[in-house]
Amino acid sequence: MPTDETTAAAAPAELSGHGRTVCVTGAGGFIASWLVKRLLEKGYTVRGTVRNPMDPKNDHLRALDGAAERLVLLRADLLDPDSLAAAFAGCEGVFHAASPVTDDPEKMIEPAIRGTRYVITAAADTAGIRRVVFTSSIGTVYMNPYRDPNKPVDDTCWSDLDYCKRTENWYCYAKTVAEQGAWEEARRRGVDLVVVNPVLVLGPLLQPTVNASTEHVLKYLTGSAKTYVNAAQAYVHVRDVAEAHLRVFETPSAAGRYICAESTLHRADLCRALAKLFPEYPIPTACKDAAAPPVRGYLFSNRRLRDLGIDFVPVRQCLYETVRSLQDKGLLPVLPPAAADDHQPTSP
Ligand SMILES: NC(=O)c1ccc[n+]([C@@H]2O[C@H](COP(=O)([O-])OP(=O)(O)OC[C@H]3O[C@@H](n4cnc5c(N)ncnc54)[C@H](OP(=O)(O)O)[C@@H]3O)[C@@H](O)[C@H]2O)c1
Repeated sequence: MPTDETTAAAAPAELSGHGRTVCVTGAGGFIASWLVKRLLEKGYTVRGTVRNPMDPKNDHLRALDGAAERLVLLRADLLDPDSLAAAFAGCEGVFHAASPVTDDPEKMIEPAIRGTRYVITAAADTAGIRRVVFTSSIGTVYMNPYRDPNKPVDDTCWSDLDYCKRTENWYCYAKTVAEQGAWEEARRRGVDLVVVNPVLVLGPLLQPTVNASTEHVLKYLTGSAKTYVNAAQAYVHVRDVAEAHLRVFETPSAAGRYICAESTLHRADLCRALAKLFPEYPIPTACKDAAAPPVRGYLFSNRRLRDLGIDFVPVRQCLYETVRSLQDKGLLPVLPPAAADDHQPTSP
């Protein structure tokens, strides 16, 4: 049998997605583009929703292997339920990845919350849809000041909405209400919903522009961040996130929430790792809040996805591939090596 890596060479009928049609919302985004690529590799026919199919920013999707034969791009907006229903017609699965990714409440709240409900309702109303996979976020899981920092965070944890509001973290607030609404609506309408909760996603970009999570790394390379904040963050590779979506869709017994995380780094360690890999960039060496003890990040349990066979790419490899991709796409200038001594960039 071919392995996952060799599916491109497999006979079409051997592929798990052969003859099956699924929809991916927000298909041109960072995560969704990798998901579309993976679905096409597995033989699926994909109906991808974008807000403007003619926008050249979606051209990378049309260039994917298999796209000419098995990818259709359809115009849909999360706040237009009819456009969602039209996109889901004929599908047996929906991957709901579209969402604004911002802390601006004006832009975030409505499409995330109302849009996600519309997705579940449209899926419930569409004959033949057997599962909806929702790309939620770790932001729906860990934002709670009363959480024991020594206990790994798992799929039973939920963010505290008052705390999200108090700290004006409107992204986490909206994603939490959106996920809770999705569960409620799915139960009410009998939709088989499975949720993936990724931490901050890194890795190579397929799309032509920088997205919010890639910007998290880019700002430490361009000189725009002079210091780093006293904070910790968990990371995961975008290919693992796409694979997680595929596995929870294809595994009949999959249910509930799946935390998608590799490991947690303090910003000091992130900057040190970047500087070791790419010493030629002006990477900050000082903490903005140097007097305070370093913040300890939460540990996230990725056991449920490891049980589904996901072998997570180490975070240093994620960083390396992110920077290389930014260089390859001309989004980060390639600088000459820092010095003629031993500080050449090395792969991790
Ligand atoms: N990247 C991360 O670190 C991370 C971590 C955890 C969870 N997530 C979740 O993963 C999903 C994808 O994130 P991403 O990082 O790939 O973001 P992204 O690159 O910004 O993509 C988001 C997509 O959502 C679409 N979208 C936004 N508002 C929409 C609306 N009103 N109607 C229809 N489409 C809309 C955008 O379409 P247009 O091209 O038309 O603007 C865009 O293609 C999101 O649900 C996000 O919350 C991301």
